[in-house]
This record gives sequence, structure tokens and C-alpha cells, in this order.
Amino acid sequence: MINAKLNSSIIFARLVSGLIIMVYCFGHMINHSLGIISVESMDKFLEYFMIFWRAPVIYYLMPISILVHALAALFTFLHRRSMRGLTRAEITQFVLGLLLPLLLFMHISYGRVTYDMTGRLGYYTYFFDSIEKENQFTFFFIFYAIMLAMVWVHGCLGIHRWLSLKSWYNCLWLFFYTLAIMPYVTSMIGVAVGYREAVLRKFDSSWMEMVAEKTPWLNSAGLPMSPDQMKKISDDAVMPVYFKFTMAFILSVIIGVILRFIWLQIEKRQSNIEVSFSGGEKVRVSPGSTILEASRLAGISHAAICGGNGRCSTCRTRILSDPDLLIPPASEESKVLHRISAAPNIRLACQVKLHQDIQVHPLLKQANPSDGHQRPTYADGEEVDVTLLFADLRGFTQMANQRLPFDVVFILNQYFELMGEAIETSGGYLDKFIGDGIMAIFGMHSGSEIGAKQAIGAAIKMGQQLEVLNSRLEDELDRPLEIGIGLHRGNAIVGNMGYGDAMAVTAIGDTVNVASRLEGACKTLGVQLVVSAEVLQAASVDFPDVIQKDVEVRGSTKPVSVFPVENASTLKPVVVGA
Ligand code: FES
Repeated sequence: MINAKLNSSIIFARLVSGLIIMVYCFGHMINHSLGIISVESMDKFLEYFMIFWRAPVIYYLMPISILVHALAALFTFLHRRSMRGLTRAEITQFVLGLLLPLLLFMHISYGRVTYDMTGRLGYYTYFFDSIEKENQFTFFFIFYAIMLAMVWVHGCLGIHRWLSLKSWYNCLWLFFYTLAIMPYVTSMIGVAVGYREAVLRKFDSSWMEMVAEKTPWLNSAGLPMSPDQMKKISDDAVMPVYFKFTMAFILSVIIGVILRFIWLQIEKRQSNIEVSFSGGEKVRVSPGSTILEASRLAGISHAAICGGNGRCSTCRTRILSDPDLLIPPASEESKVLHRISAAPNIRLACQVKLHQDIQVHPLLKQANPSDGHQRPTYADGEEVDVTLLFADLRGFTQMANQRLPFDVVFILNQYFELMGEAIETSGGYLDKFIGDGIMAIFGMHSGSEIGAKQAIGAAIKMGQQLEVLNSRLEDELDRPLEIGIGLHRGNAIVGNMGYGDAMAVTAIGDTVNVASRLEGACKTLGVQLVVSAEVLQAASVDFPDVIQKDVEVRGSTKPVSVFPVENASTLKPVVVGA
């Protein structure tokens, strides 16, 4: 079992080596893109590019990075107990990762062997001229397009997975997409245009001089070798090295797969820890397995955006048995749990190693990277003192029946826009639109006092917005639109509820029901707004011109003390004690 420190070192090594390969590739693509200008500019850039990459220590950086990257990926693969739960992007990245060393080594070997044997660079002039003479452009172009796409897609997927957990990444998506696509496209164009120049200039004496000058392979008389001689020498030098590397790589993969198989069989025999899931599924795992591995073995959908690396928090799981029996979170896990303000019984499934039977409830089946960003405390369900606002258009259903659907949608959308604006600019959270009704929550972040004040402010603004809307629709409506607004404050269960794309923060509980009933009471009381005394109390305000009343509310054991306000737009709350 690798420990958390080793795990993060491997992730780090994979990331750094991957970034080095990406930087190299990016430079290479810029170099190819210069073909759009001229082959000479490609050669010039190549000289500068290689001054850097052939510098004493840096010379080994690229091959070492490829090796480290491949080994780190192989290690992660071998350590994974089950391949279930891999996303398509992860599978693509993994398969490309396995093929890449074979392709990259071939490409790099030719360049390196040429340089090591001749002390001269493999200039584009020479390269284009050779493939033109041998009529091999189509082969090289397709080979290059595929190889580059594989390296680049593999790297971009890795960088995307790494950055998608950063909250600023989404705002810069256009920049990153451009960065991912543009260099590839321009480099392909550059190669094609560069080759075309070689074809067009092949009888041009200045081109022929340039080719002779830039040919790396010279015979003993200092003259360029024939293409066949050059090919034979470079092939003789490259092929044995490439063959050995390929064999070594394939052998390590085979040995790795066999070791993994043996290890899994041993683990199976030692599987004596029972993991029970809230849905009734049970699975046995060996000591030291993580909850995430148990979920995968049991075939349970369990989000893990960062692939089990303890960074994203999307594998968060509620521990239903005693959480104190688990090994406490290490510092890395603690940091992530703190970031999402997790309750004490929430742990990261990919980090909890099991040593006794356990009952768990994975919180997210599927997730987006944004689910791993900083989250409010209530996101997993919490009782919060909030003010609820319900609003409804009076008699709108009847009016809708007499109008064309287009008119209904037009009027409703204008209404929602103005009311939504009133709620959001007052600091409320627009929970949902239900038919022509609106539900909003205030004070989830700011506390009950500010929430109550904001809700009263929103109700006043809604009254004013309704007047704006009525004057806007004067010619369209037979009579002005009327609304009823109910406000009530108290504890409600607030959390992320729903399923799949329909998952959103909402509130449930008695406070919600009472607020909804108070909105209904507007009709019986013949007013536009009904505010419960709890809201005024929390906001420390009074409505001096409004007479307090007690109303019976269905589902409530005692009457609710309320302030019925005839016209919300003219309401003037007075601060108590001012
Ligand atoms: S899978 Fe990302 S933190 Fe566990």
C-alpha cells in the first residue's frame, strides 16, 4: 500500500514531467508553424530552440521526463484495484499514454542520433528535401499529425483535469481552448506550407545550396551523402536502440499487468472487511483499501473528478457508522475537507483506508469540477435560520386561459425578470419558479438578521417592480397584474437536493410551509404582502402603520402572528429603538 506522501510525490512527478513534455511539444509546434512564413525561419527557430534543449543538463530533461511520466502512470495504473468508474477522458488519456513512449522515442531518437553522430541539427530544409526526393510526404504528414494529436490530446486532457479544479479555470475556458487547438492547427499548416516551398524550389539553385549546407550526413570528402546512404546510416544507428527500448517498454507493461493480476488475487483472499452502502449494497475488501476502491468494486457510481488523488473533494462520503473509528484525516485530506466546510462525519472516500467494517453513503454519484470548489456549509444539508419568500400572481391561470400561449410566456417572462432582479439585487437566492410562483431564500450566508432585512427590502422592490410592469403592459392587459407575497423566518433544512442536472440548493421544513401559506393568506386578507412577526423581530424593524393580526395556518398548531401589508411598494419599515 503506498502512503499518502508517496502518492502525492508520484502525482507531482507525473505533473511536472507532463508539463516539461508539453512545453517541449509547444515549442516544437511553434517551430513547425513557422513553415507558414518560410522554411528558413523554421531552421532559424530550430537553432535557438535546440540551444536550450541541448544545454548540458537540459539535454537529458526530455527523455527523463518521458520515462518518469510513463513510470508514474504505470504505477498509478497498477495500484488501482478496479478499472470500474474510469471516465472516457481517463481511458483515452491512459491508452494514449501507453502508446506515446513508443512513438515519441522513435521521433526523438532520429533527431538525437543524427546530432550525436554528426554534430549537426536535422534542419527542416534537409528534411523536406529528403521526403520530397523519396516522395514520402503523405506518410510523414499523417504520421506526424497522428503522433502530435496523441501527445497533445493526452497532455491537454491531463492539464484540463488538473486545472478544472481551480475556480478561475472556467472563466478562462476560451483562452485555454484556443491554446489547445491553435498551435496544433497552425503547426500542421506550417508543415504543409513548408513542404510546398521545398517542392516549388527544388530546382532553385539557392535552395539546392541551402540543402547542401544543411545536410547533416557528409561523406569523408565533406560532401552530402546520397539519400540511401544517409538513411542506412541513421537507420542502423536508431533501429537497434529503438528496438531495445520498445521491447523493454512492452515487457515492463506485461510484467506490470501480471504483477497486478497476482496482487489482486492475493488481495481477494485477504478481503475480510465489509463495506455497506446506504443503498443496501455490500462488498468485501482487503485491509488498507479505500472507500472509493470499495465503491468501484461494488460497481457503485461514485464521483471522483481528480481520479482519487485527494484534490477535488467530489468523492466525499458520509460515514454512517462511528467516524471516530477511522484513522483521522491526514493534513492533505483535512485541507480539502476544510475547503468544503465538511461536517465531521464527511470524509474523502479516496483517502480513507479501511481497517474495520464500515457503513457509508457516497454523497455525489456524478460531479462537475465546480463541485470541488469551495462550498458553503449548508451544501450537504444543514439547519439554517433563514427567511423564506413566496410570491404568486393572483388570478393568472384564469387570465392565461383567455390568451395565446405566446402572450402568456411573454408576460410571465417579463414578470420573472423584474421579480428575479428585485430578489437578487436585495441579496436573496432565487430558489425556483413554480408555474407563476416564486420561491426565494434569504440569509443562507449572511445570517438571520441581514436575511430578514433583505427579504423585507425585496418585497418592497417587488411591489415597485409590479407597478413598473403594469404600466409597461397597460395596453396588453384588461386589468393590472396582482401579486401576493408571504415572508416567514425560522429554521429550515437547506442543502443541495435533487438528481443529476436537477440538483440545486433548496430549503424544506415547517418554515417553508408556513411562508407558502402566508403567501396564500394574502388573498383572504385582501393584501399584497403578509410578513410574519418572526421576520420583523429578526430584522429589528416595525411597520408602524400596519395592524398586527393572528392568522390560522394549515399545518401549524397555533396561529401565526403576521403583519398584512396592503401595498408592499409603499411600505416604510422603522428600525426598532431608532
Ligand atoms: S476523488 Fe478527488 S478527492 Fe477523492
